[in-house]
Amino acid sequence: MSPQQFSTEPRYWVVVPAAGIGTRMGAGRPKQYLTLGDKTILEQTLTRLLQLPDLAGVYVALNEHDDYWAQLAVSQDKRISPVTGGSERADSVLAALEALAGQAQENDWVLVHDAARPCITADAIEQFCNQLARHPVGGILAVPVSDTLKKVDSALQINQTLDRRFLWQAQTPQMFRLGLLRSCLSRALAEGKQVTDESSAVELYGYQPQIVEGRADNLKITRPEDLPLAQMILQQQETCS
Ligand code: CTP
Ligand code: MG
Repeated sequence: MSPQQFSTEPRYWVVVPAAGIGTRMGAGRPKQYLTLGDKTILEQTLTRLLQLPDLAGVYVALNEHDDYWAQLAVSQDKRISPVTGGSERADSVLAALEALAGQAQENDWVLVHDAARPCITADAIEQFCNQLARHPVGGILAVPVSDTLKKVDSALQINQTLDRRFLWQAQTPQMFRLGLLRSCLSRALAEGKQVTDESSAVELYGYQPQIVEGRADNLKITRPEDLPLAQMILQQQETCS
């Protein structure tokens, strides 16, 4: 038995889904490989995640046709293991969790963070982990909804105004124990359930993840107009640090 199997303190693993093709971005390459500042978006994201204290390792889920990863300097980092992702984001995350299961303990924490969210700061990640350290289930970074939300019918006629006091926008990181997340996610996918984030898989089976309040500038780069916005956010972070 290796020494790690005797340890009682759960360790922190990171899973980065990076197997998407960026359809909405419509660039010549998957958006995680576009340049943002002095690096690719994926490298910006990994640089921040790699600063987490007590980090045990990072699993990056890549597209089966990925031609870009091996060209990045960060691909040589011994703390990072590439795995082949799947057709949906949840399939990519599950592929990484399956690979991780051979190395990690059931009660180790797993932080899942989108490759396409490079503006998260190392401080925000650390605070997020600290706030959830004693939580029985785990939780997600999220921001309160600031716009008034309308529920509509198929003809775009408004049926209802939702009470936004109880509405939050989910972001990543999302952090759960490896055993719980792996079993909920694999069960949800086997049952054909719609799973758009890790939390929704865990919620399906009766668990209540905790919200940790984040910031709106942890944006997910989705469309071309998000890229200059992310550039501004990174520049502003550099001047403030
Ligand atoms: N992702 C993944 N595997 C997939 C689909 C998405 O690992 N099969 C990753 C993306 O690379 C991204 C994150 O999940 O880091 C969030 O997904 P999204 O923003 O939707 O990225 P894409 O799927 O690449 O973009 P689009 O939906 O516009 O095609
Ligand atoms: Mg997508």
